[in-house]
Amino acid sequence: MSGNAIDIESLRRRHAPLAMDAAAFREIGHRLVDDISHRLSRVPDGRVTPGESPSEVRRALQAELALPSNGADAASLVRDTTGMLFDHSLFNGHPRFFGYITASPAPIAMLGDFLASALNQNVGAWNLAPIASEMESQAVRWIAELIGYRPTCGGLLVSGGNMANFVCLLAARAAKAPWVRTEGLRSDRPRLLVYASTETHTWLHKAADMSGLGTDAIRWVPVNAARQIDLGELRTRIDEDRRAGHQPFLVVGNAGTVATGTVDPLGRLAALCREEDLWFHVDGAYGALAAQVAGAPADLAALANADSVAVDPHKWLYAPLEAGCALVKDPATLRNAFAYHPAYYRFDEEMVNYYESGPQNSRGFRALKVWLALRQVGRAGYYRMIADDIRLAEHLRRLLDERQDFQVVSRSLSIATFRYVPADLASQRRDVPVEEYLNRLNQQLLSAVEKSGEAFLSNAVDGGTFLLRVCIVNFHTSLEDIEAVPPLLARLGAQIDSALRGELALTRAEEIA
Ligand SMILES: Cc1ncc(COP(=O)(O)O)c(C=O)c1O
Repeated sequence: MSGNAIDIESLRRRHAPLAMDAAAFREIGHRLVDDISHRLSRVPDGRVTPGESPSEVRRALQAELALPSNGADAASLVRDTTGMLFDHSLFNGHPRFFGYITASPAPIAMLGDFLASALNQNVGAWNLAPIASEMESQAVRWIAELIGYRPTCGGLLVSGGNMANFVCLLAARAAKAPWVRTEGLRSDRPRLLVYASTETHTWLHKAADMSGLGTDAIRWVPVNAARQIDLGELRTRIDEDRRAGHQPFLVVGNAGTVATGTVDPLGRLAALCREEDLWFHVDGAYGALAAQVAGAPADLAALANADSVAVDPHKWLYAPLEAGCALVKDPATLRNAFAYHPAYYRFDEEMVNYYESGPQNSRGFRALKVWLALRQVGRAGYYRMIADDIRLAEHLRRLLDERQDFQVVSRSLSIATFRYVPADLASQRRDVPVEEYLNRLNQQLLSAVEKSGEAFLSNAVDGGTFLLRVCIVNFHTSLEDIEAVPPLLARLGAQIDSALRGELALTRAEEIA
């Protein structure tokens, strides 16, 4: 027998290094679930973030280790890795995590991710993932129903808000300038232009860049005192651009801006787009999910009139990362933007083949975690959780407003922005040196809160003013957590204020000397 025949015989009963028998899988898996549930139950009593430096984290990981030649025992590897991760991670499921727009993850969705990995469906093609494809279609329709968008819409799940908005922009481009898919952007065609308020998230820069339109194709429209897109200015710019021979094709409306949760006048934007024959896209990555919730801005409901909507299950549906969703009024517009039919793909047209509706070919079963959470709590459960987040943000605004040492700037949806202003500086807020001092004080305060591990906030910048920002997309947050915020910030703020004034006095003394 040749050496090769002996080798091939050894594969008759194959023992691959990654294989795990059912008993070992069960034991390691049970221990992992026990460990996770125990550690998660202790999260509220610990720090929001360990506040370590990059070098401390690299040390814990032993980042310099080369790729091991030989393997390790799976049980201890999973146990030790779980410990390492819980010891060195930020917990966005901590009740006092109020940063950015990152949700606390739904436990049923965590289990969904596990189940999805076990099945490892390729939700690019129906016959590779029959029920998973149908569950994604159902989850997309449920999301549309939840936000009051038409249930006959098309859509698919993507990685997050950036990608959902990008997919919608490409659908708009294919609908309004169909030649671009084959000819590309040509100088002998009119310039394609996009309109959005200056408060729009940076997804638009990336989408304009990646789509080849270029960021100069974005017409940044100023906002009014309520931080909403200035409709008069929008109309003027569209007219001017048309007169100059350009082709306006897309208007973006914000259903909850990232900085302050502001909702643009979506109804009037929809009407303008209808009149002007423009694609109306709504970035509802954050706020669209509140569209039908009592107490949310009434204008949100007008997203029903949009040609496309981006909405993020990993924000207000509390899905673990990653899950975004692109919705389009007419399902054909997604296929018109993405479908190709190479000879080696022979799938039935009647089936939902998601590779034809978006940029990805092979796709994971993101829908399962979203589907399970929607199914577990239903419409009423989501409306209640979102309404409670909004009520807590409003309560925080009220608590801060009642105090002498805070200036509240905004509260919309579940985002409140404000800053710490020592009482003796309140009357001089508009003086330039005082403004600069307050910016510095609040920047240091934000870092101090993060370092304390007692809460986690982020920031917004409003006309040059540095603001602290609390965003609640967290079903673990209670009234007690909110009531703890003002005293924590006031205590740390007073300490920093006193240290900074000491430093400034020292600098001035040195200057004089
Ligand atoms: C309004 C808005 N749009 C888009 C995005 C981008 O979403 P993602 O971070 O999921 O890509 C965000 C993120 O916070 C957002 O708030």
